[in-house]
Amino acid sequence: MLEKIEETARYLSNLLPETPQSAIILGTGLGGLVNHIQERMEIPYQQIPNFPVSTVEGHSGKLIFGRLGNKNILAMQGRFHYYEGYSMKQVTFPVRVMKELGIQYLFVSNAAGGMNPNFQVGDLMVITDHINLFPEHPLRGKNDPRLGARFPNMSDAYSKELIQKALQIAQDNHIPLQQGVYVGTQGPTYETPAEYKYFRTIGGDAVGMSTVPEVIVARHSGMEVFAISVITDLGVEGIVETASHENVQKAASQVESRMTLIIKDLINQI
Ligand code: HPA
Repeated sequence: MLEKIEETARYLSNLLPETPQSAIILGTGLGGLVNHIQERMEIPYQQIPNFPVSTVEGHSGKLIFGRLGNKNILAMQGRFHYYEGYSMKQVTFPVRVMKELGIQYLFVSNAAGGMNPNFQVGDLMVITDHINLFPEHPLRGKNDPRLGARFPNMSDAYSKELIQKALQIAQDNHIPLQQGVYVGTQGPTYETPAEYKYFRTIGGDAVGMSTVPEVIVARHSGMEVFAISVITDLGVEGIVETASHENVQKAASQVESRMTLIIKDLINQI
C-alpha cells in the first residue's frame, strides 16, 4: 500500500506549487466552500493514479488546491463512502496521500441526523468524539509501522485546541454551535426510529455514514483533526424531521456559509 500512496503523492506534488498545511474533506451539500478558494487548481479524481472515483449524486469528485483566506489548502470535493462498495482502505486512501504530501491538519465536514433533543435542523455540531459502528475497520490487517502504530490511541481524536478555537470563532460571529458525539454507521439506509433511539442511548448526538474512517486514519498517521456536522434531519422521539437525500442536501446548503466561515477562520489561525 505504501508504494501506491507514494506514487499518488508524487503525482500530486509534481502538480502542486506548494504543500498546504491543511486539507478539507467536504461532505454532502457543503461543496460550496470551494467557491471561496482562490487561485484554484482542480484535479479530477479520474486523473489521479490509484484514486477511487466517487459515484454519489451531489459529489463531483475532484481535488482542489488553492488559497482559502491567507492559507493554501487542499480540498476534496466528493469523498468515498463505505456504502458505495469501496473497501475501508479505498475510503481512507486520500487521507494517507495527504499525510504523505506533508499535510498536518485535516478538516472534515458531513451531514448528519440529530438525536440530541436540543438540536434543530440546520444546527452545526462540532464533533468532540465518535462511536465507530462501521462493520469493517480501516486499520484491520497487517500494520505497516511506517504509517502508524498498531494500536493507536483514540482518546483525543478531535483536537481540543481546534475545538476551542472554533467555539471562539462561532461566538465572535454570533453563530450558534452545538457540540457532540458522532456515531458512524455504514448506511445507506437512514435509521429506523428504534435505531435513532438506540444511538442516542449509547451516547450519540448525531449519526452519519462517513468521517469516522477518515478520522481514524488521520489519527493513525499523526494528523490533527477537526470535524463538523450539519444537522440535516432529526431522529428525536416524537419529532418528525425526516431524512431524505434531497432534504439532507437542502438543509446542508442552507448553513454552508456559516460552516465555511468557521473553517476558513480556523485554518487562517493555525
Ligand atoms: N442518518 C445517517 N446519515 C445521515 C443522516 C441520518 O439521519 N442525515 C444525514 N446523513
